[in-house]
Amino acid sequence: MTKQLSLLGFFGTLLIVAALGIAILREPARQVQAADDIRVAAVEEGLDLYATNCVVCHGAGGEGMAAYPSLDNEGVRAMDAEDLFRTIERGRYNTAMAAYGSEEGGIFTDMQVRSLVTLIQDAPWDAVAAHVDELGLTPPALAVAEIDAALFEQVAALEDGATLSAGLDVYATNCVACHGANAEGSTLAPALDSEELRARLTDADMTRIIVQGVPGTLMAGWERALPAADIDAVVALIRRWPELSAAGIALPAIEAAPIDMSPAAIAGGSKLYDLLCTQCHGIDGYGTPLAPALNNQTFLSQTEDAAIQQIIAGGVPGTTMPSWGGYLTEADIAAITAYLRSLEATAPAMAAP
Ligand code: HEC
Ligand code: HEC
Ligand code: HEC
Repeated sequence: MTKQLSLLGFFGTLLIVAALGIAILREPARQVQAADDIRVAAVEEGLDLYATNCVVCHGAGGEGMAAYPSLDNEGVRAMDAEDLFRTIERGRYNTAMAAYGSEEGGIFTDMQVRSLVTLIQDAPWDAVAAHVDELGLTPPALAVAEIDAALFEQVAALEDGATLSAGLDVYATNCVACHGANAEGSTLAPALDSEELRARLTDADMTRIIVQGVPGTLMAGWERALPAADIDAVVALIRRWPELSAAGIALPAIEAAPIDMSPAAIAGGSKLYDLLCTQCHGIDGYGTPLAPALNNQTFLSQTEDAAIQQIIAGGVPGTTMPSWGGYLTEADIAAITAYLRSLEATAPAMAAP
Protein backbone atom coordinates (compact mmCIF):
# COMPACT_ATOMS: atom_id res chain seq x y z
CA MET A 1 0.00 0.00 0.00
CA THR A 2 2.72 2.52 0.96
CA LYS A 3 4.56 1.59 -2.19
CA GLN A 4 1.47 2.34 -4.25
CA LEU A 5 0.99 5.70 -2.48
CA SER A 6 4.57 6.80 -3.09
CA LEU A 7 4.26 5.78 -6.73
CA LEU A 8 1.15 7.93 -6.94
CA GLY A 9 3.24 10.90 -5.78
CA PHE A 10 5.89 10.11 -8.35
CA PHE A 11 3.39 10.27 -11.20
CA GLY A 12 2.19 13.65 -9.91
CA THR A 13 -0.39 15.18 -12.21
CA LEU A 14 -0.33 12.38 -14.76
CA LEU A 15 -3.52 11.11 -13.19
CA ILE A 16 -4.52 8.68 -15.86
CA VAL A 17 -1.13 7.07 -15.92
CA ALA A 18 -1.10 7.06 -12.15
CA ALA A 19 -4.48 5.36 -12.03
CA LEU A 20 -3.25 2.80 -14.49
CA GLY A 21 -0.09 2.27 -12.46
CA ILE A 22 -2.09 1.68 -9.32
CA ALA A 23 -4.37 -0.75 -11.11
CA ILE A 24 -1.39 -2.72 -12.37
CA LEU A 25 0.39 -2.68 -9.02
CA ARG A 26 -2.70 -3.78 -7.19
CA GLU A 27 -3.36 -6.63 -9.57
CA PRO A 28 -1.43 -9.34 -7.67
CA ALA A 29 -3.14 -8.31 -4.41
CA ARG A 30 -6.51 -8.40 -6.12
CA GLN A 31 -5.76 -11.83 -7.53
CA VAL A 32 -4.90 -13.08 -4.08
CA GLN A 33 -8.12 -11.56 -2.73
CA ALA A 34 -10.12 -13.13 -5.58
CA ALA A 35 -8.51 -16.52 -4.98
CA ASP A 36 -9.42 -16.19 -1.28
CA ASP A 37 -13.00 -15.29 -2.17
CA ILE A 38 -13.26 -18.32 -4.45
CA ARG A 39 -11.85 -20.54 -1.71
CA VAL A 40 -14.32 -19.17 0.84
CA ALA A 41 -17.20 -19.66 -1.61
CA ALA A 42 -16.00 -23.21 -2.36
CA VAL A 43 -15.80 -24.06 1.32
CA GLU A 44 -19.33 -22.70 1.80
CA GLU A 45 -20.72 -24.72 -1.10
CA GLY A 46 -18.76 -27.78 0.02
CA LEU A 47 -20.18 -27.35 3.51
CA ASP A 48 -23.78 -27.67 2.37
CA LEU A 49 -22.97 -30.60 0.08
CA TYR A 50 -21.12 -32.28 2.91
CA ALA A 51 -23.95 -31.69 5.38
CA THR A 52 -26.59 -33.25 3.16
CA ASN A 53 -24.57 -36.11 1.63
CA CYS A 54 -21.64 -37.19 3.73
CA VAL A 55 -22.39 -36.80 7.45
CA VAL A 56 -24.28 -40.10 7.75
CA CYS A 57 -21.02 -41.97 7.24
CA HIS A 58 -18.23 -39.48 7.95
CA GLY A 59 -19.87 -37.70 10.91
CA ALA A 60 -21.01 -34.10 11.46
CA GLY A 61 -17.45 -32.95 12.14
CA GLY A 62 -15.61 -35.43 9.91
CA GLU A 63 -14.97 -37.70 12.91
CA GLY A 64 -16.27 -40.86 11.17
CA MET A 65 -19.24 -43.01 12.21
CA ALA A 66 -18.92 -46.62 13.41
CA ALA A 67 -16.68 -48.43 10.90
CA TYR A 68 -16.74 -45.52 8.42
CA PRO A 69 -13.47 -43.59 8.39
CA SER A 70 -12.81 -40.09 9.69
CA LEU A 71 -11.94 -37.32 7.22
CA ASP A 72 -10.63 -34.99 9.92
CA ASN A 73 -7.07 -36.30 10.06
CA GLU A 74 -3.64 -35.40 8.77
CA GLY A 75 -3.52 -38.41 6.45
CA VAL A 76 -6.57 -37.20 4.53
CA ARG A 77 -5.52 -33.54 4.58
CA ALA A 78 -2.12 -34.53 3.19
CA MET A 79 -3.69 -36.47 0.31
CA ASP A 80 -3.10 -35.05 -3.12
CA ALA A 81 -6.07 -32.93 -4.28
CA GLU A 82 -6.35 -35.10 -7.39
CA ASP A 83 -6.56 -38.29 -5.30
CA LEU A 84 -9.28 -36.75 -3.15
CA PHE A 85 -11.10 -35.64 -6.29
CA ARG A 86 -10.95 -39.15 -7.76
CA THR A 87 -12.09 -40.76 -4.50
CA ILE A 88 -15.23 -38.60 -4.39
CA GLU A 89 -15.82 -38.70 -8.14
CA ARG A 90 -15.36 -42.45 -8.61
CA GLY A 91 -15.92 -43.83 -5.10
CA ARG A 92 -13.88 -46.75 -3.76
CA TYR A 93 -14.56 -50.06 -5.42
CA ASN A 94 -16.27 -52.64 -3.23
CA THR A 95 -16.82 -50.27 -0.29
CA ALA A 96 -19.73 -48.12 0.87
CA MET A 97 -17.97 -45.09 -0.61
CA ALA A 98 -20.11 -44.43 -3.70
CA ALA A 99 -19.13 -42.59 -6.89
CA TYR A 100 -20.50 -39.04 -6.65
CA GLY A 101 -19.19 -37.58 -9.93
CA SER A 102 -21.77 -37.06 -12.70
CA GLU A 103 -19.44 -38.81 -15.16
CA GLU A 104 -19.74 -41.90 -12.97
CA GLY A 105 -23.51 -41.70 -12.72
CA GLY A 106 -23.40 -39.66 -9.49
CA ILE A 107 -25.06 -36.38 -8.60
CA PHE A 108 -22.20 -33.85 -8.46
CA THR A 109 -20.61 -31.68 -11.14
CA ASP A 110 -16.81 -31.37 -11.24
CA MET A 111 -17.12 -27.97 -9.56
CA GLN A 112 -19.08 -29.48 -6.71
CA VAL A 113 -16.56 -32.28 -6.24
CA ARG A 114 -13.79 -29.62 -6.25
CA SER A 115 -15.57 -27.67 -3.54
CA LEU A 116 -15.77 -30.82 -1.41
CA VAL A 117 -12.03 -31.36 -1.92
CA THR A 118 -11.38 -27.76 -0.80
CA LEU A 119 -13.60 -28.28 2.22
CA ILE A 120 -11.82 -31.49 3.23
CA GLN A 121 -8.40 -29.86 2.87
CA ASP A 122 -9.22 -26.50 4.49
CA ALA A 123 -12.15 -27.08 6.79
CA PRO A 124 -12.12 -26.06 10.42
CA TRP A 125 -14.07 -29.21 11.34
CA ASP A 126 -15.58 -27.86 14.56
CA ALA A 127 -17.17 -25.08 12.48
CA VAL A 128 -18.43 -27.71 10.02
CA ALA A 129 -19.99 -29.66 12.92
CA ALA A 130 -21.64 -26.47 14.21
CA HIS A 131 -23.04 -25.67 10.76
CA VAL A 132 -24.34 -29.22 10.28
CA ASP A 133 -26.00 -28.95 13.69
CA GLU A 134 -27.62 -25.62 12.73
CA LEU A 135 -29.09 -27.33 9.68
CA GLY A 136 -30.46 -30.03 11.97
CA LEU A 137 -28.50 -32.70 10.09
CA THR A 138 -26.34 -34.11 12.87
CA PRO A 139 -26.86 -37.88 12.68
CA PRO A 140 -28.32 -39.66 15.70
CA ALA A 141 -25.76 -41.05 18.12
CA LEU A 142 -24.73 -44.69 17.89
CA ALA A 143 -26.79 -47.34 19.63
CA VAL A 144 -24.43 -48.13 22.47
CA ALA A 145 -24.69 -49.99 25.75
CA GLU A 146 -24.58 -47.60 28.70
CA ILE A 147 -22.21 -49.17 31.19
CA ASP A 148 -21.98 -47.44 34.55
CA ALA A 149 -18.73 -46.82 36.36
CA ALA A 150 -19.51 -49.42 39.05
CA LEU A 151 -19.73 -52.17 36.45
CA PHE A 152 -16.44 -51.09 34.88
CA GLU A 153 -14.83 -51.19 38.33
CA GLN A 154 -16.19 -54.69 38.91
CA VAL A 155 -14.65 -55.83 35.61
CA ALA A 156 -11.37 -54.00 36.26
CA ALA A 157 -11.09 -55.83 39.61
CA LEU A 158 -10.90 -59.23 37.85
CA GLU A 159 -7.50 -60.73 37.03
CA ASP A 160 -5.90 -58.62 34.25
CA GLY A 161 -9.13 -56.66 34.44
CA ALA A 162 -7.63 -53.61 32.71
CA THR A 163 -7.61 -55.46 29.37
CA LEU A 164 -11.16 -56.73 29.93
CA SER A 165 -12.55 -53.33 30.78
CA ALA A 166 -10.76 -51.75 27.79
CA GLY A 167 -12.29 -54.45 25.56
CA LEU A 168 -15.70 -53.91 27.10
CA ASP A 169 -15.51 -50.20 26.37
CA VAL A 170 -14.75 -50.92 22.70
CA TYR A 171 -17.45 -53.59 22.53
CA ALA A 172 -20.18 -51.49 24.19
CA THR A 173 -19.55 -48.59 21.84
CA ASN A 174 -19.13 -50.43 18.54
CA CYS A 175 -20.44 -53.97 18.57
CA VAL A 176 -23.56 -54.28 20.75
CA ALA A 177 -25.93 -52.98 18.07
CA CYS A 178 -25.45 -56.20 16.08
CA HIS A 179 -23.88 -58.77 18.41
CA GLY A 180 -26.12 -58.00 21.40
CA ALA A 181 -25.45 -56.41 24.79
CA ASN A 182 -23.98 -59.63 26.22
CA ALA A 183 -22.55 -60.95 22.93
CA GLU A 184 -25.51 -63.32 22.77
CA GLY A 185 -26.12 -62.47 19.10
CA SER A 186 -29.21 -60.93 17.45
CA THR A 187 -31.20 -61.27 14.25
CA LEU A 188 -28.39 -59.29 12.62
CA ALA A 189 -25.28 -61.09 13.75
CA PRO A 190 -24.04 -64.26 15.44
CA ALA A 191 -23.19 -64.64 19.13
CA LEU A 192 -19.59 -63.88 20.05
CA ASP A 193 -19.77 -65.32 23.56
CA SER A 194 -19.77 -68.89 22.28
CA GLU A 195 -17.56 -71.91 22.99
CA GLU A 196 -17.98 -73.02 19.39
CA LEU A 197 -16.54 -69.71 18.14
CA ARG A 198 -13.67 -69.78 20.65
CA ALA A 199 -12.76 -73.32 19.58
CA ARG A 200 -13.01 -72.52 15.86
CA LEU A 201 -11.14 -69.19 15.78
CA THR A 202 -7.65 -68.37 17.04
CA ASP A 203 -6.97 -64.84 18.29
CA ALA A 204 -5.27 -64.15 14.96
CA ASP A 205 -8.42 -65.32 13.09
CA MET A 206 -10.61 -63.05 15.18
CA THR A 207 -8.28 -60.11 14.69
CA ARG A 208 -8.30 -60.66 10.94
CA ILE A 209 -12.13 -60.81 10.82
CA ILE A 210 -12.47 -57.62 12.86
CA VAL A 211 -9.79 -55.80 10.89
CA GLN A 212 -10.97 -56.84 7.42
CA GLY A 213 -14.64 -57.59 8.00
CA VAL A 214 -16.50 -60.36 6.19
CA PRO A 215 -17.16 -59.18 2.63
CA GLY A 216 -20.75 -59.46 1.49
CA THR A 217 -22.13 -59.41 5.05
CA LEU A 218 -22.94 -56.71 7.59
CA MET A 219 -19.60 -57.27 9.30
CA ALA A 220 -17.56 -54.24 8.23
CA GLY A 221 -13.79 -54.01 8.50
CA TRP A 222 -12.80 -51.88 11.50
CA GLU A 223 -9.18 -51.29 10.50
CA ARG A 224 -9.72 -47.61 9.78
CA ALA A 225 -11.99 -46.94 12.73
CA LEU A 226 -10.28 -48.67 15.64
CA PRO A 227 -6.62 -48.52 16.72
CA ALA A 228 -4.85 -51.90 16.90
CA ALA A 229 -4.80 -51.77 20.73
CA ASP A 230 -8.63 -51.54 20.79
CA ILE A 231 -8.93 -54.51 18.44
CA ASP A 232 -6.52 -56.54 20.63
CA ALA A 233 -8.57 -55.63 23.71
CA VAL A 234 -11.89 -56.66 22.17
CA VAL A 235 -10.37 -59.96 20.94
CA ALA A 236 -9.16 -60.62 24.49
CA LEU A 237 -12.64 -59.83 25.76
CA ILE A 238 -14.29 -62.32 23.38
CA ARG A 239 -11.73 -64.96 24.37
CA ARG A 240 -12.25 -64.31 28.08
CA TRP A 241 -15.99 -63.56 28.15
CA PRO A 242 -16.66 -66.62 30.39
CA GLU A 243 -14.67 -64.84 33.13
CA LEU A 244 -17.33 -62.13 33.13
CA SER A 245 -20.13 -64.67 33.27
CA ALA A 246 -18.35 -66.57 36.06
CA ALA A 247 -18.14 -63.35 38.06
CA GLY A 248 -21.87 -62.80 37.49
CA ILE A 249 -21.27 -59.67 35.42
CA ALA A 250 -23.97 -58.95 32.83
CA LEU A 251 -24.31 -55.84 30.71
CA PRO A 252 -27.61 -53.94 30.60
CA ALA A 253 -29.82 -55.15 27.73
CA ILE A 254 -30.83 -52.80 24.92
CA GLU A 255 -34.59 -52.46 24.79
CA ALA A 256 -36.42 -53.73 21.71
CA ALA A 257 -39.48 -51.69 20.75
CA PRO A 258 -42.57 -53.04 18.99
CA ILE A 259 -43.84 -51.13 15.95
CA ASP A 260 -45.90 -48.23 17.20
CA MET A 261 -48.24 -46.85 14.51
CA SER A 262 -49.41 -43.83 16.53
CA PRO A 263 -49.43 -40.47 14.70
CA ALA A 264 -46.60 -39.29 16.96
CA ALA A 265 -44.41 -42.29 16.06
CA ILE A 266 -45.13 -41.84 12.35
CA ALA A 267 -44.28 -38.13 12.60
CA GLY A 268 -41.01 -39.01 14.35
CA GLY A 269 -40.20 -41.57 11.66
CA SER A 270 -41.03 -39.06 8.95
CA LYS A 271 -38.60 -36.58 10.47
CA LEU A 272 -35.82 -39.17 10.62
CA TYR A 273 -36.60 -40.19 7.06
CA ASP A 274 -36.32 -36.57 5.87
CA LEU A 275 -33.03 -36.23 7.68
CA LEU A 276 -31.33 -39.47 6.69
CA CYS A 277 -32.99 -41.03 3.68
CA THR A 278 -34.34 -38.38 1.29
CA GLN A 279 -30.98 -37.65 -0.32
CA CYS A 280 -31.01 -41.17 -1.76
CA HIS A 281 -34.63 -42.40 -1.68
CA GLY A 282 -36.17 -39.05 -2.55
CA ILE A 283 -38.81 -36.85 -0.95
CA ASP A 284 -41.73 -38.95 0.34
CA GLY A 285 -39.88 -42.09 -0.78
CA TYR A 286 -40.41 -41.57 -4.50
CA GLY A 287 -36.82 -42.57 -5.34
CA THR A 288 -33.87 -40.82 -7.02
CA PRO A 289 -31.22 -42.03 -9.47
CA LEU A 290 -29.22 -43.06 -6.37
CA ALA A 291 -31.72 -45.42 -4.78
CA PRO A 292 -35.04 -47.13 -5.49
CA ALA A 293 -38.47 -45.78 -4.56
CA LEU A 294 -39.84 -47.13 -1.29
CA ASN A 295 -43.25 -45.51 -1.70
CA ASN A 296 -44.87 -48.10 -3.96
CA GLN A 297 -47.25 -51.05 -3.54
CA THR A 298 -44.84 -53.60 -4.97
CA PHE A 299 -42.27 -53.00 -2.26
CA LEU A 300 -44.59 -52.22 0.66
CA SER A 301 -47.10 -55.03 0.15
CA GLN A 302 -44.39 -57.67 -0.27
CA THR A 303 -42.11 -56.61 2.57
CA GLU A 304 -42.93 -57.41 6.21
CA ASP A 305 -42.27 -54.80 8.90
CA ALA A 306 -39.57 -57.04 10.35
CA ALA A 307 -37.86 -57.29 6.97
CA ILE A 308 -37.98 -53.50 6.47
CA GLN A 309 -36.46 -53.05 9.93
CA GLN A 310 -33.80 -55.60 9.14
CA ILE A 311 -32.88 -53.89 5.84
CA ILE A 312 -32.66 -50.50 7.54
CA ALA A 313 -30.62 -51.87 10.42
CA GLY A 314 -28.36 -53.99 8.28
CA GLY A 315 -28.10 -52.04 5.06
CA VAL A 316 -27.61 -53.83 1.78
CA PRO A 317 -23.98 -54.98 1.68
CA GLY A 318 -22.21 -54.33 -1.60
CA THR A 319 -24.45 -51.31 -2.34
CA THR A 320 -24.49 -47.74 -1.02
CA MET A 321 -27.41 -48.56 1.31
CA PRO A 322 -25.75 -47.92 4.67
CA SER A 323 -26.38 -50.11 7.70
CA TRP A 324 -28.17 -47.95 10.24
CA GLY A 325 -28.09 -50.53 13.03
CA GLY A 326 -25.03 -48.85 14.43
CA TYR A 327 -26.49 -45.33 14.45
CA LEU A 328 -30.19 -45.65 15.13
CA THR A 329 -31.91 -47.23 18.09
CA GLU A 330 -34.44 -49.96 17.38
CA ALA A 331 -37.14 -47.46 18.34
CA ASP A 332 -35.88 -45.04 15.67
CA ILE A 333 -35.83 -47.81 13.08
CA ALA A 334 -39.32 -48.89 14.13
CA ALA A 335 -40.52 -45.27 13.75
CA ILE A 336 -39.09 -45.05 10.22
CA THR A 337 -40.72 -48.39 9.42
CA ALA A 338 -44.05 -47.06 10.75
CA TYR A 339 -43.65 -43.99 8.55
CA LEU A 340 -42.92 -46.10 5.43
CA ARG A 341 -45.87 -48.36 6.27
CA SER A 342 -48.11 -45.28 6.58
CA LEU A 343 -47.40 -44.49 2.92
CA GLU A 344 -48.86 -47.81 1.76
CA ALA A 345 -52.50 -46.71 1.66
CA THR A 346 -51.81 -44.05 -0.99
CA ALA A 347 -48.72 -45.56 -2.66
CA PRO A 348 -48.64 -45.87 -6.46
CA ALA A 349 -48.77 -49.47 -7.69
CA MET A 350 -45.29 -49.43 -9.19
CA ALA A 351 -42.21 -47.29 -8.71
CA ALA A 352 -41.66 -44.78 -11.50
CA PRO A 353 -38.65 -46.00 -13.53
C1 HEC B 1 -22.49 -44.88 2.86
C2 HEC B 1 -21.34 -44.37 3.57
C3 HEC B 1 -20.54 -43.24 2.94
C4 HEC B 1 -21.00 -42.03 2.48
C5 HEC B 1 -22.44 -41.52 2.43
C6 HEC B 1 -19.83 -41.29 2.07
N1 HEC B 1 -18.69 -42.03 2.27
FE1 HEC B 1 -16.78 -41.43 1.92
N2 HEC B 1 -16.09 -43.24 2.51
C7 HEC B 1 -16.87 -44.28 2.96
C8 HEC B 1 -16.02 -45.44 3.21
C9 HEC B 1 -16.46 -46.81 3.70
C10 HEC B 1 -14.70 -45.03 2.89
C11 HEC B 1 -13.43 -45.87 2.97
C12 HEC B 1 -13.25 -46.61 1.68
C13 HEC B 1 -11.97 -47.43 1.71
O1 HEC B 1 -11.90 -48.37 2.51
O2 HEC B 1 -11.08 -47.10 0.95
C14 HEC B 1 -14.80 -43.65 2.47
C15 HEC B 1 -13.70 -42.90 2.09
C16 HEC B 1 -13.74 -41.56 1.77
C17 HEC B 1 -12.59 -40.75 1.50
C18 HEC B 1 -11.15 -41.22 1.52
C19 HEC B 1 -10.65 -41.21 2.92
C20 HEC B 1 -9.31 -41.87 3.06
O3 HEC B 1 -8.81 -41.89 4.21
O4 HEC B 1 -8.77 -42.40 2.09
C21 HEC B 1 -13.04 -39.49 1.21
C22 HEC B 1 -12.20 -38.28 0.85
C23 HEC B 1 -14.48 -39.52 1.30
N3 HEC B 1 -14.87 -40.79 1.65
C24 HEC B 1 -15.29 -38.44 1.07
C25 HEC B 1 -16.68 -38.50 1.09
C26 HEC B 1 -17.52 -37.39 0.75
C27 HEC B 1 -17.05 -36.02 0.35
C28 HEC B 1 -18.82 -37.84 0.87
C29 HEC B 1 -20.09 -37.09 0.55
C30 HEC B 1 -20.20 -36.54 -0.77
C31 HEC B 1 -18.76 -39.22 1.28
N4 HEC B 1 -17.45 -39.59 1.40
C32 HEC B 1 -19.87 -40.00 1.55
C33 HEC B 1 -18.23 -44.28 3.15
C34 HEC B 1 -19.08 -43.23 2.80
C1 HEC C 1 -23.63 -54.01 11.51
C2 HEC C 1 -23.61 -55.20 12.30
C3 HEC C 1 -22.28 -55.62 12.96
C4 HEC C 1 -21.49 -54.85 13.80
C5 HEC C 1 -21.71 -53.42 14.26
C6 HEC C 1 -20.39 -55.71 14.18
N1 HEC C 1 -20.53 -56.94 13.60
FE1 HEC C 1 -19.29 -58.54 13.84
N2 HEC C 1 -20.41 -59.63 12.55
C7 HEC C 1 -21.58 -59.21 11.96
C8 HEC C 1 -22.08 -60.28 11.11
C9 HEC C 1 -23.34 -60.23 10.26
C10 HEC C 1 -21.18 -61.35 11.22
C11 HEC C 1 -21.25 -62.70 10.51
C12 HEC C 1 -20.47 -62.64 9.22
C13 HEC C 1 -20.49 -63.95 8.50
O1 HEC C 1 -21.56 -64.31 8.00
O2 HEC C 1 -19.44 -64.61 8.46
C14 HEC C 1 -20.14 -60.90 12.15
C15 HEC C 1 -19.07 -61.68 12.52
C16 HEC C 1 -18.16 -61.36 13.48
C17 HEC C 1 -17.13 -62.24 13.98
C18 HEC C 1 -16.89 -63.67 13.51
C19 HEC C 1 -17.93 -64.53 14.15
C20 HEC C 1 -17.87 -65.99 13.71
O3 HEC C 1 -18.61 -66.79 14.31
O4 HEC C 1 -17.14 -66.31 12.77
C21 HEC C 1 -16.43 -61.55 14.93
C22 HEC C 1 -15.26 -62.05 15.74
C23 HEC C 1 -17.05 -60.23 15.02
N3 HEC C 1 -18.08 -60.15 14.13
C24 HEC C 1 -16.64 -59.23 15.89
C25 HEC C 1 -17.18 -57.96 15.91
C26 HEC C 1 -16.66 -56.91 16.76
C27 HEC C 1 -15.53 -57.04 17.75
C28 HEC C 1 -17.43 -55.81 16.51
C29 HEC C 1 -17.27 -54.40 17.07
C30 HEC C 1 -15.98 -53.81 16.90
C31 HEC C 1 -18.41 -56.18 15.50
N4 HEC C 1 -18.21 -57.48 15.18
C32 HEC C 1 -19.37 -55.32 15.01
C33 HEC C 1 -22.18 -57.97 12.11
C34 HEC C 1 -21.68 -56.92 12.85
C1 HEC D 1 -26.30 -43.32 0.38
C2 HEC D 1 -27.59 -43.63 -0.23
C3 HEC D 1 -28.67 -44.24 0.66
C4 HEC D 1 -29.14 -43.75 1.85
C5 HEC D 1 -28.69 -42.52 2.62
C6 HEC D 1 -30.22 -44.62 2.22
N1 HEC D 1 -30.37 -45.63 1.31
FE1 HEC D 1 -31.75 -47.16 1.41
N2 HEC D 1 -30.98 -47.94 -0.31
C7 HEC D 1 -29.98 -47.39 -1.06
C8 HEC D 1 -29.76 -48.23 -2.23
C9 HEC D 1 -28.73 -47.97 -3.32
C10 HEC D 1 -30.68 -49.30 -2.14
C11 HEC D 1 -30.84 -50.45 -3.13
C12 HEC D 1 -29.93 -51.59 -2.73
C13 HEC D 1 -30.08 -52.76 -3.67
O1 HEC D 1 -29.59 -52.64 -4.79
O2 HEC D 1 -30.68 -53.76 -3.25
C14 HEC D 1 -31.43 -49.09 -0.91
C15 HEC D 1 -32.42 -49.95 -0.47
C16 HEC D 1 -33.26 -49.70 0.61
C17 HEC D 1 -34.37 -50.53 1.01
C18 HEC D 1 -34.81 -51.83 0.31
C19 HEC D 1 -35.65 -51.43 -0.88
C20 HEC D 1 -36.07 -52.60 -1.71
O3 HEC D 1 -36.76 -52.35 -2.71
O4 HEC D 1 -35.72 -53.74 -1.38
C21 HEC D 1 -34.95 -49.93 2.09
C22 HEC D 1 -36.18 -50.41 2.87
C23 HEC D 1 -34.19 -48.75 2.37
N3 HEC D 1 -33.15 -48.63 1.46
C24 HEC D 1 -34.46 -47.86 3.39
C25 HEC D 1 -33.68 -46.75 3.70
C26 HEC D 1 -33.95 -45.89 4.83
C27 HEC D 1 -35.13 -46.02 5.77
C28 HEC D 1 -32.97 -44.94 4.83
C29 HEC D 1 -32.74 -43.84 5.84
C30 HEC D 1 -32.65 -44.27 7.24
C31 HEC D 1 -32.09 -45.21 3.70
N4 HEC D 1 -32.56 -46.32 3.05
C32 HEC D 1 -30.99 -44.43 3.37
C33 HEC D 1 -29.27 -46.23 -0.78
C34 HEC D 1 -29.45 -45.43 0.33
